[in-house]
Amino acid sequence: MLPPICVFQFGAPDTEVDTMAGKGGREDLLSRLKRKNFTAAVIGLGYVGLPLAMEYARAGVPVIGIDLDGDKIRMIRAGKSYIKDIPSASIRDALKAGLLRVTSDFSALAEADTVNICVPTPLNKTRDPDLSYVVNAAEQVAKYLHRDMLIVLESTTYPGTTEEILVPMFEEKGLKVGRDVFLAFSPERVDPGNARFTTRNIPKVVGGVTPKCTEMATALYTGVLEKVYPVTKARVAEMTKLLENTFRSVNIALVNEMAIMCNRMGIDVWEVIDAAKTKPFGFIPFYPGPGIGGHCIPLDPFYLSWKAKQFGLESRFIELAGVINRQMPHFVVEKVVEALNRFKKSVNGAKILILGVAYKKNIDDVRESPAIDIIDLLAKRGAKLSYCDPYVPVVVESGIQMKAETFSAAALRNADCVVVVTDHDRFNYGVIIRESKIIVDTRNALKGRNGSKIIKL
Ligand SMILES: NC(=O)c1ccc[n+]([C@@H]2O[C@H](COP(=O)([O-])OP(=O)(O)OC[C@H]3O[C@@H](n4cnc5c(N)ncnc54)[C@H](O)[C@@H]3O)[C@@H](O)[C@H]2O)c1
Repeated sequence: MLPPICVFQFGAPDTEVDTMAGKGGREDLLSRLKRKNFTAAVIGLGYVGLPLAMEYARAGVPVIGIDLDGDKIRMIRAGKSYIKDIPSASIRDALKAGLLRVTSDFSALAEADTVNICVPTPLNKTRDPDLSYVVNAAEQVAKYLHRDMLIVLESTTYPGTTEEILVPMFEEKGLKVGRDVFLAFSPERVDPGNARFTTRNIPKVVGGVTPKCTEMATALYTGVLEKVYPVTKARVAEMTKLLENTFRSVNIALVNEMAIMCNRMGIDVWEVIDAAKTKPFGFIPFYPGPGIGGHCIPLDPFYLSWKAKQFGLESRFIELAGVINRQMPHFVVEKVVEALNRFKKSVNGAKILILGVAYKKNIDDVRESPAIDIIDLLAKRGAKLSYCDPYVPVVVESGIQMKAETFSAAALRNADCVVVVTDHDRFNYGVIIRESKIIVDTRNALKGRNGSKIIKL
């Protein structure tokens, strides 16, 4: 059963488009969206796109998933999920019901009424936005663009992308955005590994290029997700996502800096945060850590600072937060040096076991993970490294190639220093304390178990 949905009322019908009947008497897109009588397409079936595609299928909307990665297509066709939050059984159910089709062939877009673009938006080597994936996907959409098609960009990007990059690409085809085709931006706010808030129940912000586009995109999500929050413009929706992620990046940087200060002053930062959060107003707890990771927080704010420069503005908070957060792996290395020092050992030649390489707990994503930087920094100092991570069997990142070791008492005993980088729930922390010689705990995973073996951040 679908959960209750929030329906937004719009004013008088837009005169730009005949809302009653489309060309040749065919029911127009808006009423088909409202009746869930349409075919959706999702381009990019990663952490964002696959969960969204599954929501369409769950709502009874036939969906075509398109990805360039042949392995992903083969796995889905075989009924196997590669995203931890998506059970294989729901993929198999959707395939069996004929509601999910996947392909690498973009000509399938000709059948689609709506397209969600969910491709990566990384930074290039000079930390500027790399929109090549978005542009490549949009070029394919442009090839198969047809009247009464709604396109929604979900990839995180700087304010103005939808209007400045996508509108010209589509209008070049002779179709007017807001009249013949519809275009909106809707940030994806999914938090992998979060069982409470998922694609379905995280409110969906949507902003169209025109009011009609906003109305169309709102209708699209209203039938599929629990709550939709329309805003007036695509660039408001683009900026919303950047505010959210910059807010996190800056607050994490602040608390990381606090951790470094507390450390120097001999104060337990974790105890300070626990005390501060008893204030019932005006304080939101953020926690220090070994550094930030994933495809969002370390990257997204720099989309904004890049754009701000075009307006003659320097986004100092963003830059400063980036500098502080990128320092944290170095701070962890200092703590490892401190730990080994207790045994009169040098990093050079020391056996160091890293616990957790994913960028956050209970997930398998190692993109931008601080664990990779920590491994790299320690390896450059001559340490002998190994790692355990129940979610990440191998690491092939930034020139590092490692295979996970099985988590065991022997592995812990064998290490000169154990470093908790990611506090997965599946680690047995009792065993870690019992068997390790010394532990650097970067996440306060050993909270409440103080002892001379534990060196906290
Ligand atoms: N991962 C997250 O937690 C998260 C959360 C919110 C927003 N986002 C944003 O969503 C976007 C997608 O992120 P993701 O984590 O899902 O990335 P991902 O790497 O997991 O998935 C992207 C997919 O797009 C495919 N792809 C790339 N170019 C393509 C093309 N031209 N045509 C078809 N497929 C193509 C890739 O093969 C890949 O499967 C990014 O902009 C990201 O910033 C991510």
